[in-house]
Amino acid sequence: MAKRRAFGSPAGRIALLHALAHIELNAIDLAWDLVARFTGEGLPRAFFDDWVEVAAEEAHHFELLTGRLAELGAGYGDLPAHDGLWEAAAATAGDLLARLAVVPLVLEARGLDVTPEMAARLERVGDAESASILYEIYRDEIGHVATGLRWLDRLCRARGLDPRATFQERVRRFFKGDLKPPFNHEARNAAGFPADYYEPLAMRERPQPLISTSS
Ligand SMILES: [Fe+2]
Ligand SMILES: [Fe+2]
Repeated sequence: MAKRRAFGSPAGRIALLHALAHIELNAIDLAWDLVARFTGEGLPRAFFDDWVEVAAEEAHHFELLTGRLAELGAGYGDLPAHDGLWEAAAATAGDLLARLAVVPLVLEARGLDVTPEMAARLERVGDAESASILYEIYRDEIGHVATGLRWLDRLCRARGLDPRATFQERVRRFFKGDLKPPFNHEARNAAGFPADYYEPLAMRERPQPLISTSS
């Protein structure tokens, strides 16, 4: 629920760090949910190992952010937080491919798009400590997107499905709304995430009619 308010004020930075801490807390639960919920699908051991590792990284991110909040005289739970991430989890609880499409490959990939600008804004107002935490999280999240894509592709192939078409179909069915450009192609490429998966789902600019044809 971080508003686009001035990061120059401590309150604005606390709101941002609090919103990010809430996302990371949800991300811990989402990683463990992947480990616990889909045990009946004959998944290999490596699937569980990967998501346990992601869960540990999300816990580290939560600790980095709550540590920084403490330095600023605040703590997790001080502010309200929205439920968007958990709603996505609930919506995809019955479909592992939808979960992988929506959580790592839409929501975490969206984090890659917006985090560098947030970190740069923090640097510009002189908060290098918070900025460096965001950069560390950003580097790890590239790995989480890569992990999500690797498993989506692998599970689709094992089930005789086309990974790209399946990704697009699941996002259209389970994710409300279009994906928001501009995309951070550099980070998405670093995660091995091909643009032809997500570009076709991007929000289109609505063309303005040049002339009204109604008469
Ligand atoms: Fe994270
Ligand atoms: Fe993550």
